[in-house]
Amino acid sequence: SKALNILQLNKMKREGLPISMITAYDYPSARLAEEAGIDIILVGDSVGNVLSNYNSTLPVTIDDMVYHTRSVVRGAEHTFIVADMPFMTYHVSSEEALTNVRRLMQEGHAHAVKLEGGMEICDTVKRIVQSGVPLLGHIGLTPQSVHQIGGYFIQGKNSQAAERLLNDARALEQAGAFAIVLELVTEEVAKSITREVSIPVIGIGAGRYCDGQVLVYHDMLQYSAPYREKKFVKTYSDIGTLIRDSIGQYVKDVKDRSFPGEEHVFKADENVVERLYGN
Ligand code: KIV
Ligand code: NA
Repeated sequence: SKALNILQLNKMKREGLPISMITAYDYPSARLAEEAGIDIILVGDSVGNVLSNYNSTLPVTIDDMVYHTRSVVRGAEHTFIVADMPFMTYHVSSEEALTNVRRLMQEGHAHAVKLEGGMEICDTVKRIVQSGVPLLGHIGLTPQSVHQIGGYFIQGKNSQAAERLLNDARALEQAGAFAIVLELVTEEVAKSITREVSIPVIGIGAGRYCDGQVLVYHDMLQYSAPYREKKFVKTYSDIGTLIRDSIGQYVKDVKDRSFPGEEHVFKADENVVERLYGN
């Protein structure tokens, strides 16, 4: 099957067909997500929280994103892949933003980029879209602004803040964004934004009425430590426990010499170790 494109994603909104998105940061996770039939993979800057346990996304660099994006694309060649622009890689100037978009597309091989912000970032959004790059917006809770917001709080809670979010969504649509991620807002706010714009709204912690949903890979699989309760996440597997138990079994096997077994041992007539590295 071929990767979806932004025309098909827009058609899915018009026809009321939900869009599924998940993050991935490397080849194996991307490959499994593609095999599972995901519509979009996001190489999120949540990579910093998830793989390095940073307490925010701010330390993630453009080099980090290029590397992870390239690995993800290699694992999911038939899936639409969006790469996050990291903190402060699109604020200094539109020129610098375009330089960093170039890296994500040309070195990382992403199909599209995502950046955080509403009206205030729309001049840069326009420049990126004019250069031929599909752009995914991101409003609501924007984790790159966590120190300004003061924490990971639900957004748009009073009518003024809700109105501002709606205007941000409209501005992103006007600026040419192909879709918008809406993070951590009440269901009512998400519902009205989804109704008011013609581009898909993909929610995370934004309730049931968005055009699509996105979750962080390691959250839905419990493949993360330390484990934090997140109300908006549904746990689909407990991979963390499976991995811990498996490694524990390996340790035990080594200690009591039940690994390696006879079947893992080389004989004099063998000399090729297949698939030790790569393929
Ligand atoms: O980095 C990320 O994972 C994200 C999603 C939560 C939307 O931006
Ligand atoms: Na992100």
